[in-house]
Amino acid sequence: MLSPPYEEQFAYVEQRIDALKTDKTGDERQTEGEVFDRKTLMTLYDMMKRGMVDKVHYPVSTGKEGNVFYSTDGDGSAVALKIYRTSTSTFKRVARYVEGDPRFKGIVGNRWKLIYAWAAKEYRNLERYAEAGLRVPEPITVDKNCLLMEYIGDESGPAPQLRNYEMDEPADYYECIVGFIVDGWNKARLVHGDLSEYNILVEGDGPVVIDVGQTMTADFFNARELLERDVENVNAYFRRKGVDTEKTTDILAECKAPRREGD
Ligand SMILES: Nc1ncnc2c1ncn2[C@@H]1O[C@H](COP(=O)(O)OP(=O)(O)OP(=O)(O)O)[C@@H](O)[C@H]1O
Ligand SMILES: [Mg+2]
Repeated sequence: MLSPPYEEQFAYVEQRIDALKTDKTGDERQTEGEVFDRKTLMTLYDMMKRGMVDKVHYPVSTGKEGNVFYSTDGDGSAVALKIYRTSTSTFKRVARYVEGDPRFKGIVGNRWKLIYAWAAKEYRNLERYAEAGLRVPEPITVDKNCLLMEYIGDESGPAPQLRNYEMDEPADYYECIVGFIVDGWNKARLVHGDLSEYNILVEGDGPVVIDVGQTMTADFFNARELLERDVENVNAYFRRKGVDTEKTTDILAECKAPRREGD
């Protein structure tokens, strides 16, 4: 059993988590038991002490790998807090993705370490996209299974996913998203790997790409396959919206081969 001051710290954090009071239906019932385990509460406590998070208001999404919460920081500004589940089922799914990835060598067997590394990888990918000038949520900080980033949306809710957004000029969105794929590859040297109308939010009138945990570097052994799949998903979606899409091969041709040492 933990002794005080831990108990006090947990109590403090729990008080600052409105999400625990949310009416829990369906998936959300898992919020309390699975997401806010003691290790997660301790991590949140550290973030609260640093003023990065002041309050966790409500879940905007309860996904496969984790939950995303509308939160506010010490200044009262909105931030998005993504908390990865540390359950065995998440571990198994994530482990499948990172098998054979040299960066995960030696930790694939450890549930906690693997999930922490996965959250850190999503953070690094956000950083790398943002540094290359691509529109993703700005990463703020990551600690263990908790990732804090810019909140895309307002108090009334998160920005809509592209699939739920009525586009005035679908061709403009198409161009912008193809630009994200090509520049993502050429400038950030990344391939998203799960790009679809689900993982693109629309804020103002522009797309913001999210969910970059599985995103890989362009030198990963099957990066070109992932790239092709992303292009095909986006092409299929926009064809359904009546856009005269570019040939997949033409888009792929714009994505340059990774530079080799000495080039
Ligand atoms: N930075 C953000 N700002 C606002 N809302 C966000 C943000 N990041 C994620 N969301 C919301 O949470 C949802 C899930 O996020 P994300 O896709 O990153 O998580 P996931 O665990 O992979 O979930 P899923 O399995 O549903 O894809 C998004 O569709 C979006 O509605
Ligand atoms: Mg997603």
